[in-house]
Amino acid sequence: MKSFFSLVYLLLVLAFFSHITWAVKGNSLCKQTGMGEIRPHSVTITEFGAVGDGVTLNTKAFQNAIFYLNSFADKGGAKLFVPAGRWLTGSFDLISHLTLWLDKDAIILGSMNSDDWPVVDPLPSYGRGRELPGGRHRSLIYGRNLTDVIITGDNGTIDGQGSVWWNWFRSKTLNYTRPHLVELMNSTGVVISNLTFLNSPFWTIHPVYCSHVIVQDVTILAPLDSPNTDGIDPDSSDDVCIEDCYISTGDDLISIKSGWDEYGISFARPSRNIIIRRLTGHNQNGSGIAIGSEMSGGVSEVYAENIYFFNSSTGIILKTARGRGGYVRNIYISNVTLVGVDTAIFFNSNFSQHPDEFYDPNSLPVIERITFKDVIGDNIKVAGLLKGIEGDSFRHICLLNITLDVTTKSPWNCSNIQGYSSLVSPEICEPLKESIYPKHYSDCYLLPNHLRSSGNQNKGSWLFSS
Ligand SMILES: *[C@@H]1O[C@H](CO)[C@@H](O)[C@H](O)[C@H]1NC(C)=O
Ligand SMILES: *[C@@H]1O[C@H](CO)[C@@H](O)[C@H](O)[C@H]1NC(C)=O
Ligand SMILES: *[C@@H]1O[C@H](CO)[C@@H](O)[C@H](O)[C@H]1NC(C)=O
Ligand SMILES: *[C@@H]1O[C@H](CO)[C@@H](O)[C@H](O)[C@H]1NC(C)=O
Ligand SMILES: *[C@@H]1O[C@H](CO)[C@@H](O)[C@H](O)[C@H]1NC(C)=O
Ligand SMILES: *[C@@H]1O[C@H](CO)[C@@H](O)[C@H](O)[C@H]1NC(C)=O
Ligand SMILES: *[C@@H]1O[C@H](CO)[C@@H](O)[C@H](O)[C@H]1NC(C)=O
Ligand SMILES: *[C@@H]1O[C@H](CO)[C@@H](O)[C@H](O)[C@H]1NC(C)=O
Ligand SMILES: *[C@@H]1O[C@H](CO)[C@@H](O)[C@H](O)[C@H]1NC(C)=O
Ligand SMILES: *[C@@H]1O[C@H](CO)[C@@H](O)[C@H](O)[C@H]1NC(C)=O
Ligand SMILES: *[C@@H]1O[C@H](CO)[C@@H](O)[C@H](O)[C@H]1NC(C)=O
Repeated sequence: MKSFFSLVYLLLVLAFFSHITWAVKGNSLCKQTGMGEIRPHSVTITEFGAVGDGVTLNTKAFQNAIFYLNSFADKGGAKLFVPAGRWLTGSFDLISHLTLWLDKDAIILGSMNSDDWPVVDPLPSYGRGRELPGGRHRSLIYGRNLTDVIITGDNGTIDGQGSVWWNWFRSKTLNYTRPHLVELMNSTGVVISNLTFLNSPFWTIHPVYCSHVIVQDVTILAPLDSPNTDGIDPDSSDDVCIEDCYISTGDDLISIKSGWDEYGISFARPSRNIIIRRLTGHNQNGSGIAIGSEMSGGVSEVYAENIYFFNSSTGIILKTARGRGGYVRNIYISNVTLVGVDTAIFFNSNFSQHPDEFYDPNSLPVIERITFKDVIGDNIKVAGLLKGIEGDSFRHICLLNITLDVTTKSPWNCSNIQGYSSLVSPEICEPLKESIYPKHYSDCYLLPNHLRSSGNQNKGSWLFSS
């Protein structure tokens, strides 16, 4: 009888878990509000002397067009139309109230000359370039201190031609950290949609210190062996929605970050309120969704659902280390399908690159309240490699309804970790073995407040009260 009730209870809670989050959170974050899709003014890049032959360098044309359009910023904004053609350019700067619109066969090509990618200051939350001390090359498409910026079109292409950068990286002849393909910094109201991004020199799309960012219907591709070509990296940014994307690159498809060691700790700008849904992709040396390894400003309130990763090395990864400080909490990941993935869930706590020797090894990250629900995996080598830090247990890690078809003998390997589970196959490791139900549901993220406060005496009563 008791087990019958716990089963009914479990099913009720499972049903409840699946509906609340999206109804409340999803739709407001993923809709652009009050942003001008219709710009009263429009120009074409050819009006500024651009030549789409793939050879002529058009940096000046982009800069001049955008300078001209700045005069419409307070008149509803303007659209810069890029027609079919191969538009070679160096780095250029966007402005507020601008729509950059790429026609179907428009291809913006990144210059293969590093001088066309000027060097800018390192991010204060990193203290230095991510790869090398000092400055970093500015992204091909860059924006800073902006509001209401849209980069979209009829699935046109932005190709970073990153192979030269990958070669400079491999031959150790870089002078500064490699550039992103698109970086928006300290901006609010950003939409990037319906485009294809190819061959970024480094991380592809990098919103940093931004709010209200939507990335929708984009395809991001780079060779599977290209170094550090992450897809989308929300960094110290909040209210970010990423949906309906296909990503296949050389590193993490999506990586949520918030600064590096002592620099990230003192800058203290977290990434939070992040939605990821309907993401498909693969890689061979990275993960589908990563948090970290730079997470020193904190990461919280991340919701991911309807995720499909195939032929990849890792499904979901949390990367951190001694010295990072910060926190990762209130993470909810559900409906994940993994096919041909080496490690389904990985907590790597020894991601030990540091910006310099001044990090404080006693700054330990707080990792808590992470829920994985409805994960199904086929042809998986290792179900979970879940390692906390000695003296810093990761806690309230909850696994619910996970079924992985695993090919190795020891599917789970857990240490310095604490949490609960229900309906997990193959059998979960000892530290997570205690059932979520009935005693520990309130320790797991995410149950609504009224259920949490009712305790475990009134099983199911929430169903019948409003
Ligand atoms: C961010 O942008 C706003 C204007 O949009 C500006 O006032 C502020 O100083 C900027 N902060 C940084 C750190 O760039
Ligand atoms: C952005 O704002 C910061 C802080 O006010 C300022 O230092 C910087 O010059 C601004 N950058 C641009 C491109 O407007
Ligand atoms: C996205 O691009 C496709 C392909 O060109 C086009 O048919 C479609 O209308 C675009 N969607 C939006 C919302 O602009
Ligand atoms: C955009 O182009 C990419 C690459 O060619 C393609 O895979 C994708 O399906 C296209 N998306 C749309 C919305 O047409
Ligand atoms: C690095 O600097 C050297 C010396 O100025 C220069 O020859 C080389 O082209 C630079 N490398 C890159 C990738 O910019
Ligand atoms: C995989 O990525 C890691 C970290 O980015 C790098 O150190 C390693 O060399 C890469 N391996 C391959 C085979 O590309
Ligand atoms: C789960 O995600 C897949 C995509 O991977 C989607 O087709 C399916 O409809 C989702 N299921 C639910 C219940 O949302
Ligand atoms: C995934 O890998 C398997 C085995 O290597 C291969 O047969 C399959 O075609 C790959 N799937 C895709 C979609 O690339
Ligand atoms: C962490 O990694 C470093 C360097 O890769 C290694 O020396 C150290 O033993 C590792 N620590 C743990 C606890 O695994
Ligand atoms: C468990 O997850 C699978 C998908 O991974 C889903 O089809 C199934 O309905 C879930 N079971 C329960 C009891 O929610
Ligand atoms: C767990 O991992 C540790 C080191 O990563 C290894 O020494 C140990 O054998 C593993 N345990 C199992 C049961 O696989």
